[in-house]
Amino acid sequence: MSSRPVSSRHPTHLRAIREEIRRIERYDPPFADRSVINLSLNEHYAPPSSQIQDALHNLDPMRLVTYDTELAEQLRARIAAREGVAIENIVLCPGSSSGLQLLFSCLSGGPLLVPSICWSYYLNLARLHGFPVTSYALQKGAGEFQVSPESVSEALERDRPTLLLFIQPHMPTGTLAPVDLVLGCAERARSALVLVDEAYHGFSPDAASVAAEVLTHPNLIVSKTFSKYFGLAGIRMGYLVVSAPIAEQLGKAASPFSVPFVSSLVALAALDSEAHYRALAAELMAVKGAFARRIDALPGVRSYRSHGNFLLVELPDAEAAARAEADIRAAGVAVRSARSYGLPSFLRISLGAAETMDRVATALEESEARHEAR
Ligand SMILES: Cc1ncc(COP(=O)(O)O)c(C=O)c1O
Repeated sequence: MSSRPVSSRHPTHLRAIREEIRRIERYDPPFADRSVINLSLNEHYAPPSSQIQDALHNLDPMRLVTYDTELAEQLRARIAAREGVAIENIVLCPGSSSGLQLLFSCLSGGPLLVPSICWSYYLNLARLHGFPVTSYALQKGAGEFQVSPESVSEALERDRPTLLLFIQPHMPTGTLAPVDLVLGCAERARSALVLVDEAYHGFSPDAASVAAEVLTHPNLIVSKTFSKYFGLAGIRMGYLVVSAPIAEQLGKAASPFSVPFVSSLVALAALDSEAHYRALAAELMAVKGAFARRIDALPGVRSYRSHGNFLLVELPDAEAAARAEADIRAAGVAVRSARSYGLPSFLRISLGAAETMDRVATALEESEARHEAR
């Protein structure tokens, strides 16, 4: 049987795809090597709570047959109560990255104003839509990275962005911009949207959420997820907290029944387990403190203050960072080089169980000692 070859010389059907998309590179999330303990994706290390496991165990399979709206509405109501807003302020989405995608699909244009060190998915979304991007300074200070309020102000005046982005806590640096700065920008730049990505909210008691402020700041959008604090990256559940008029516009662009029933079920059980997750977060912050103190004692190694479930760690240079990454990997743990963030002498290390962090610290100590001995 002969089959007609598909012509790759004249793929005219690809002209049906927008040119911006044909021109850009694909965003490939980092590969997750599960043959080692993975501290490269800022996932949680703990298993889901017993309430979640029970909910899955007792799942009525017939609920998988029908489109769900009932449970999604229950979840919206629970989230609204948790965030101190009304149900119409909550837009559920399958993972907060999908929420960002939805938001970007509704923007009228650029420019977008983002931190100078930024999660590449934002840049990818901007390229996808052909939006120009400008940035404000996020700089290395003593012991922590800092957003420069002057730089934000200057860029707001100069660039007149349609959207200003804060990531709170910031990924990968772990820092926080002052809440006054964030809300002040929303008050000043009334024709812009101010997006606050709170994906890593909940770990640090010092990081306040601005979600409830959408009630008094109609141009504020807060993005949240069940992937980090609740450790449920696999259920793909996130939400945007927005003023009601913005929710109405986003609702027109959202796909119908986009929230899976099973994900709503698990997310509701997670909200029933708040005490469990609060205790885990406190434990993680204690582990972070102990780990940071231990590695900061090593010559040439310095961690930066982080309010998330990860630490940004600086080594003397890019070569030392690559060596440390390889030595930690040889000890059975994957960590993330921060090269793609323009920080080649840094590693981003997600926080895991105390024994895992002990293993990472030991690998770093031995790596340093071996190098010193040469
Ligand atoms: C800064 C930031 N925002 C949002 C997300 C998206 O999380 P999800 O799509 O799992 O909700 C991530 C994921 O790592 C992130 O690092």
